[in-house]
This record gives sequence, C-alpha cells and structure tokens, in this order.
Amino acid sequence: MTTDLAAKFGIEYPIFAFTPSEHVAAAVSRAGGLGVLGCVRFNDPEELEATLVWMDENTDGKPYGIDIVMPAKVPTEGKAVDLESLIPAEHRAFVDRTLADLGVPPLSDDVEHSAGVLGWLHSVARAQVDVALKHRPALIANALGSPPKDVIDEAHKHGVPVAALAGAVAHARHHVENGVDIVIAQGYEAGGHTGEIASMVLVPEIVDAVGDDAIVLAAGGIGSGRQIAAALSLGASGVWMGSYWLTAAEYKLGSASSEGPSTIQKALLKATSADTVRTRIYSGKPARLLKTKWTEAWAAKDAPDALPMPLQNLLVSDAHQRISAADNPDVVAMPAGQIVGRMNEIRPVADSMKDLVDEYEATIARLRSF
Ligand SMILES: Cc1cc2nc3c(=O)[nH]c(=O)nc-3n(C[C@H](O)[C@H](O)[C@H](O)COP(=O)(O)O)c2cc1C
Repeated sequence: MTTDLAAKFGIEYPIFAFTPSEHVAAAVSRAGGLGVLGCVRFNDPEELEATLVWMDENTDGKPYGIDIVMPAKVPTEGKAVDLESLIPAEHRAFVDRTLADLGVPPLSDDVEHSAGVLGWLHSVARAQVDVALKHRPALIANALGSPPKDVIDEAHKHGVPVAALAGAVAHARHHVENGVDIVIAQGYEAGGHTGEIASMVLVPEIVDAVGDDAIVLAAGGIGSGRQIAAALSLGASGVWMGSYWLTAAEYKLGSASSEGPSTIQKALLKATSADTVRTRIYSGKPARLLKTKWTEAWAAKDAPDALPMPLQNLLVSDAHQRISAADNPDVVAMPAGQIVGRMNEIRPVADSMKDLVDEYEATIARLRSF
C-alpha cells in the first residue's frame, strides 16, 4: 500500500487516523499510519503541551499530526459576552427533565464541573497551534472550514502542511484558494461533523475539482481494506479514518483508567450501521452521533431545537459529563459514523492496521485477477 503520499509523510501506509486519544494516535503512528490527535478537548494549553511531550516520547520517532476545530464563523467570539446568559431557560429545563427521565444521576459533589468544549473558540485553537508548533507535528488539520490565513502561513513557515475537512466541492475549492495543502473529502456516512453528500459521490467530485492543487484524502465510512481500495480507486491519495479507532484496545483519554471495554465502547460494539443519527445536539452544527436514548429524546416532538455553536455544547456539557459518569451504554453522547456496524471487537491498533493492509492487498489482487 506504499504510495507517494506515504513516502512524503515518512509513513508506511497512507492511513491517517483521527482520534481524540493520544494512546491510539501514538499506536497508529508506531504501526505505520499517521496518528492525528484531536485537540478540541484541550481547553488548557499546558495539558496539551504535556500530552505532546508524551506523544514525542511514545511514537518511536515516527510522525504524528494534530487536529484543531476552528469554525469559519463563531458569532460570539471576540465580544465580551457571557455565553451562559444566552442559553434559554427552556433549554436548560429540557436537559434537566431529560436526564431525570433517563435516570442519569447528578454529579457527585467532589467532581469538578467541566467548562464544556472551548477548543472551537478561535482564541483557544490558536493557543493549541502555538503549542503544537513547538513540537514536530507532520500535519495540522482543521474541521469546519479553512483555518485562518495567518494560521496557515504560520504552519507553512514551520514546514507543516495544513489539511481541512470538506463536505462539498465548494468547501474544497475554498480550502485550496486559502492555501490548504490537503483536502479531506468527508462523506455523509462519517462520524462527527459531516455534510449531506455520500463518500462514493463526494470523493471523485472533490478529486476532480481540486486537480493538482491539493492532495485529497477520503473520509467517511472507511473501516476495512476493501474500503481503502475503493477510496484510492475513487482518486484519493490516502484515507482519513475516525470512528474505526474508537474500539481500539488502547483507547482512553489522558490517564483515565482503562480496564476492559468502556461504556462507550460497549455501546459502539452493539450498534449496527443504522444506529447513528445526524443532529445538531452535540455542538450546534450537524454531526453524526451514535443513536441512543439521549439523541432520541432530542428528536422527540416536545424537544427544543438545538442552539447554535458554541452555545449548544455549553448547554449539554454538564449533561455529557453526567452521562459519562452514569455508565449506561443505552445513554451515551458520542460522535460515531455508519461504519460502527462493523466495529464489533476491541482490538489493538497494530492488529487492526495489519488487517487493513492485508485486506487491501487481497482486494487489489482480486481486482487484478479479473
Ligand atoms: C468521536 C469523534 C470525534 C471527532 N472529532 C473531530 C474533531 O474534533 N475534529 C475533526 O476534524 N474531526 C473530528 N471527527 C471527524 C473525524 O476527523 C473523521 O473525519 C471522521 O470520523 C471520518 O469518518 P468515519 O467516522 O466514518 O471514519 C470526529 C469523529 C469522531 C468519530
């Protein structure tokens, strides 16, 4: 599976793995792919710094990337507004009522309440880029638009290529005009923030639209060697996989304890490809989540509409913390793509990588035999 792109990044396989877990990111890089650490959860730059020091020490000198979330527009950013005061009482009451109905207990008094995800505020994401550039990222990727020009320029000054996710041809062209080097063509099937066009249609559209102006990675619904072969057949130079790594044996955030499958992993293992939903309830922008009693409650007739980003995540951040503490696989709040239907086992990253590569090779051999 060695390709020009893999050679350019100094990796064995053109498999880029987005993951919020530094343990999984490092394991992917060690196994010959490019682990890309999602940084949106790091509200504190010092925590990110410590994590990147850990990445430097645990990747055997292999390259890794980082991913930030800078939405093209955050209406409240930069203004002295109390974001909490913009959340309607009706929404808060709905969240409290729903958690009570679902039997999710309040947090115990000794637990610190999280501030919610602030990583998608530009000020926080910029601090993340500053921290990352002191390390050796092989790539900086951005969700939800091109990063601002000065961020792209700063990355380029450090010799770091910039990638951005695109759910439509217009986004891809816009990225290229802004100086983005790698376009990640992400189809509707994908976990997390996603557009409305399926990968099968989107990838060749974007490959043709950007031509030689950028490298294209395919994302959305990839979880096997056959799907990697399909993505390369559609013209992509590599793949960008997210959901697939959520059931890695190494999956945990920071120093969290990790004995056996987590509650979220139990929920993922039993889900079928029909058990996801694209909804705005996670962040305020459409994102594909695992369908659970939590997402169903928001889809009910009496539920309010989700708030815009970043208010929706502030609204549900306490709820997400309570849901995680409650340990009930029927009530989780987790981005996951349709490939979840094939994620039926907890496996070490190295074993999964080997399977991806072996199945890819077998697929190519099968095609050649025709
Ligand atoms: C749990 C989870 C969290 C995600 N968070 C981010 C993120 O913070 N930034 C980002 O660029 N993409 C994020 N994504 C999207 C992934 O980068 C990737 O594009 C997507 O998972 C690919 O589709 P797949 O899930 O079908 O593999 C997330 C995906 C998942 C499953």
